[in-house]
Amino acid sequence: MAMIPTVHALNKYLKKRIFVLSFLFPLIAVAFKADPSTDISGTWRMDIVQRGNVKLSTYFIIHADSGKFSGSVIINGAVELRFRNPHFEGNEAVFGTTWNRDYRLRRDGEKLHVTIVYGVNSSEQAYATAVPEAETKAPPFIQLPPLAVVPANGLAKTPPMGWNSWNHFGGNVDDAVVRAAADRLVSSGLAAAGYHYINIDDCWEGGRDANGNIVSNQKFPNMKALADYVHARGLKLGIYSSPGPLTCGGYTGSYDHEEQDAKTYASWGVDYLKYDWCSAERIYTNDQLQAAYQKMGSALAHCGRPIVYSLCEYGMADVWQWGAAAGANLWRTTGDIKDNWESMSAIGFNQVKTAPFSGPGHWNDPDMLEVGNGGMSNAEYRTHFSLWCMLAAPLMAGNDLGKMSGETLEILSNKEAIAIDQDPLGQQGVPVMKNDSIQIWVRLLKHGARAVAIFNTTKVVKTVVLDFLTINVKGKQKIRDLWLHQNLGKFNVRFKTSVGPHCVALLKLTR
Ligand code: GLA
Repeated sequence: MAMIPTVHALNKYLKKRIFVLSFLFPLIAVAFKADPSTDISGTWRMDIVQRGNVKLSTYFIIHADSGKFSGSVIINGAVELRFRNPHFEGNEAVFGTTWNRDYRLRRDGEKLHVTIVYGVNSSEQAYATAVPEAETKAPPFIQLPPLAVVPANGLAKTPPMGWNSWNHFGGNVDDAVVRAAADRLVSSGLAAAGYHYINIDDCWEGGRDANGNIVSNQKFPNMKALADYVHARGLKLGIYSSPGPLTCGGYTGSYDHEEQDAKTYASWGVDYLKYDWCSAERIYTNDQLQAAYQKMGSALAHCGRPIVYSLCEYGMADVWQWGAAAGANLWRTTGDIKDNWESMSAIGFNQVKTAPFSGPGHWNDPDMLEVGNGGMSNAEYRTHFSLWCMLAAPLMAGNDLGKMSGETLEILSNKEAIAIDQDPLGQQGVPVMKNDSIQIWVRLLKHGARAVAIFNTTKVVKTVVLDFLTINVKGKQKIRDLWLHQNLGKFNVRFKTSVGPHCVALLKLTR
């Protein structure tokens, strides 16, 4: 009898415990499986020391809650990118960006351990520390000048030719690389073929001195001495900056120091400035592009030295319509070229709407040459070079001049193709026939001759009949092949030829 109340009491006891446990269980579970999101919320700064001993800061602004997070990364103070596909993998916060770099973040004590994943095979480890969010703000906006026309500087009557460090050396450019390029430009015969500018791209900058003067970093001990070295070889020196506070590589830009920097460049003996939008994007709107570029345009006009002015804003806001008014001698019409057929052909074959805006003193710039960098065949490089010559494009070699193959040198120094590029009429070529496999482009030259390029965009040999009506010529034409360096004879009405895969027939037609 006594058992009944006992069982009942036990039941009651267990029910009570289960009730309490069922309440506590989620709390216990949460306590054991800590929410990783609570650890990473906030603003974090990661500093990486780059070559030249220059600090590069990247910020992570993270909003995290209940196992989820979102946010943005500010790379080099230049661009702010939203996280793509943010998710946790264990205790690591993982996300991608549109800049082809992914991140894995994990809390490690007071810091955040960061793995930066570049593409498939390369990654880098670093730590980020917590900072106040205010630190990530762009510097205050400084009023831009009202729009006005900067008078033409009289330079670059034909498209500028030279060499630029970026496509091959990127951030690994230094004083020795530039001197070697200058020597090689001369000894290879390229200087004699018309290549005169030795242009240092990004990653030379080292901050500012106590008076706000821009200084070079450790890789460039003396810019004036370097300019003297380049000038002593009959060449000219180019340099690079940004209208924003930082360049695309995270080095010092010219924001709020435009006149001062123009004077510094002039005092060093600089002859060419490439001015790259980069972090200006965080300060100005696209409506302010012209005024921002004009600001440096007029600073250069008053710096006391003739300096070719090259805009690099990837073709935004139809730069070809106003680049010359901002004082520019050339302006990039596209994003960055890559060393492959897809990138090169997508850029080169799409430069039609810009054609009317090019001419002596002010050129469309479809980006620097990749010839000799290894990502395309020699036939493709011949197409690349021919297309750039048809476009009256600046010819900036972007390869390692010291390790050039015979074929690369032959392509870059094709004097007959260069003569098309440099034709004094300065009229940009245009396509007159396009189909899935062939494009025919024509460029009118001074004294009435025509350059005609027949491009084969397929991977098989094509036979092409060039009908003179298509290119709007009448009567007998003397035809010369500018790659074979041969007169092919006189032709009436049409001309038949075969063109190799991804290759070109570059011809000059004279009556
Ligand atoms: C941008 C430009 C490139 C090069 C790099 C340097 O991407 O378009 O040509 O100057 O910046 O950081």
